[in-house]
Amino acid sequence: MKVTPYEVQGEIDYDKLIKEFGTKPITDELLERIKKHTGELHEVLRRKIFFSHRDLDLILNEYERGNKFVLYTGRKPSDNVHIGHLLVWKFTKFLQDKFNVELYFQMTDDEEFLFKKRSLEEANKFAYENALDVIACGFDPKKTKIIIDTEYIKTMYPIALKVAKHLTLSTSKAVFGFKNDNNVGQVFFTCMQSVPALLPSVLKGEPTQVLIPHAIDQDPHFRITRDIAPKLGFPKPASIHSIFLPGLKEGGKMSASDPMSAIFVTDTPEQIKKKIMNAFSGGRETTEEHKKLGGNPDIDIPFQYLRIFFEPDDVKLKKIYDDYKAGKILSGEMKQICLEKAIEFIEDHQKKREGSRKVVDKFILRD
Ligand code: TRP
Repeated sequence: MKVTPYEVQGEIDYDKLIKEFGTKPITDELLERIKKHTGELHEVLRRKIFFSHRDLDLILNEYERGNKFVLYTGRKPSDNVHIGHLLVWKFTKFLQDKFNVELYFQMTDDEEFLFKKRSLEEANKFAYENALDVIACGFDPKKTKIIIDTEYIKTMYPIALKVAKHLTLSTSKAVFGFKNDNNVGQVFFTCMQSVPALLPSVLKGEPTQVLIPHAIDQDPHFRITRDIAPKLGFPKPASIHSIFLPGLKEGGKMSASDPMSAIFVTDTPEQIKKKIMNAFSGGRETTEEHKKLGGNPDIDIPFQYLRIFFEPDDVKLKKIYDDYKAGKILSGEMKQICLEKAIEFIEDHQKKREGSRKVVDKFILRD
């Protein structure tokens, strides 16, 4: 198993990741504490899809003392937003609503340029396209600021420099596995990703707590940020970590580089159908066998998508789970249930996405 922001490989053991990374599991006690503020818990919390954290308890301590935190998340802009990305953004929107807090959303067009075969101009264009997907999640325009790295650089650069002075090449190599043939922009980039975690303190002129919802693979960046922040007089940012959405095929995560492994926000109903019908199933070889012995929802990808993303209702989900196990739902029927939910969701998202074109300028932070 290997997990860095730039490479995820092998069978992911999330308990082992918590130990290796030194994060904390989200316990039932912590969930009870969150519930005091949010009322009903979001299903991704109830189902431990957000499973790990750093200092979330401290964020709640401060919040209970009347000190609001700021949310921060981000995206390396490209033409492949998939539902794995929306998983984090929709949860971030829930946190914004329930805690009534601001969000800084970073578009790292610099990162896309430095790490991918893409011109800087293209990467920048995708920052604007992806902003539509972010806005479509329903964030409050009064409380949400989108930062585009190459454009908000005047404010960001002094902060990035202060981080850079504390980051050695040997740390960068050890954390990300960089070798001598990595370009120097890649080494510097983690300083840019640190900036929005510190920026609220700079803009408000007082120490401000930041909570970062993100998939666990981004943790190496924020380990560095947390290490350096106190040296610069900033509070350490806290994080809440999600699992990866599994790919449609057997094994591996939903990956932007493999079109058949992921459901993209731009997919047509026909494309979604083809992908879900070919998804890895936990059903039996024959219908007869399936009816007699039942299927395995725990490895069935269409069921997992319902659990992780498409079916918020626990009662409905449990019935589908039980009926599949009992052989009352066939694997083709499971795919159909998932497919209907997926098409409905993506069509709705695409509508909202187009609607956000006229408001995008309101969200972009300028200096
Ligand atoms: N590096 C992230 C990516 O590859 C983008 C990103 C920037 C981000 N800042 C973030 C993701 C904060 C989560 C939280 O997609």
